[in-house]
Amino acid sequence: LRHLLGIQGLTPGEITALLDIADGYVEQNRSDDKRKTLLRGRTVINLFFENSTRTRTSFELAGKRLGADVINMQAAGSSVQKGETLIDTAMTLNAMHLDVLVVRHPDSGAVKLLSEKVNCAVINGGDGSHEHPTQALLDALTIRRHKGRLSGLTVAICGDVLHSRVARSNIHLLNAMGAQVRVIGPRTLLPSAIEAMGVEVVHDMRRGLEGVDVIMMLRIQNERMRGNFIPSIREYFHFFGLDRHKLALAKPDAVIMHPGPMNRGVEIDSDVADDVERSLIREQVEMGVAVRMACLDVLTRHLTLQNGAAS
Ligand code: CP
Repeated sequence: LRHLLGIQGLTPGEITALLDIADGYVEQNRSDDKRKTLLRGRTVINLFFENSTRTRTSFELAGKRLGADVINMQAAGSSVQKGETLIDTAMTLNAMHLDVLVVRHPDSGAVKLLSEKVNCAVINGGDGSHEHPTQALLDALTIRRHKGRLSGLTVAICGDVLHSRVARSNIHLLNAMGAQVRVIGPRTLLPSAIEAMGVEVVHDMRRGLEGVDVIMMLRIQNERMRGNFIPSIREYFHFFGLDRHKLALAKPDAVIMHPGPMNRGVEIDSDVADDVERSLIREQVEMGVAVRMACLDVLTRHLTLQNGAAS
C-alpha cells in the first residue's frame, strides 16, 4: 500500500491485514509499555483544513507511540491564510523530507490530488463527503471484536448519509467484507443513486431497524448543507433519532455506534448513547488509535521497501 486514500479499491485481504495488525496494537495500548521504536527517525505531519478532535489526536498519539516525530498543522495557523494553495502547501512540506502526510480537507478529491504531487505516503483523514477510510477501519475493528466477524451481519447506517464520508467508506468496507448494509434516512438526506452502492434503502427508521446487528448513527452535517434538508430538530429526532423505543426493534444484542462528534437529542438520545452494555462509541475512539498505528506501520513498511529498492 503506497497511500491510504479510501476504502474503495482495497481488497478484503488488505482490509483484514490492517485489522489484524491493529488488533495487536490494541493490546499494546492497554499495556504499560505503549511506546515502540518502529517509526524512529520518521516524520508524520497532520495537515488539517477542517476541525477534528478524534482523528487528529489519535494520529498524533499513533505516531508518537510508534516513535515517530509528529507535527500538527492546521490551516487556521498556516500560510494558507495568506493565500497559499493546497499544492504549494504540500510541496513546501514535501521539501522537508517527511515520511507520512495525514490530510483532512473539505473538498472531495483534494487528498488524492495532493498525493499525486508529493513523495511521501499520504493518508486521507477525511475529504469532503467522499471518504474517511481510517474511520471505517476502526468501525470494522470495533464490530469484529464484538461480533467475531463482519460477514453475514446486517448493519444499519442512519441519518445524513448524503454528506457523510464515514457512511461512504463504511459501505465500501462492509460490502467488501460480506456484510449487508441498510441505509436509513429521509429522502433529502440520502444520495439519489445510493442503491447503486449495493445497499438496501429504507425511509422508515422503525422498519429499517428490524433485525439489525449493528446501528451506526450519523450526525447531521450542517457545515455541508446548502439548503433546508430537515423541517425541524424536534421532528427529525421523532422520526430518525435513536432512542430506547426504536432500539428495541433491532436484535436484542444489537450494538450502537457513532463516529462522533455526537449531537445529543438530534440524532441520538443520551440514554442510548451512554448505554454501557450496548453503546460502543467510546470503544470506537480507542480502536481509532490502534487502527491509525496499523496504517502508519503498513505505509512506512512500503517506504522502507521503496528506499531499499532505490539504494
Ligand atoms: N469521527 C471523526 O472524524 O471525528 P473528528 O472530526 O473529531 O476527527
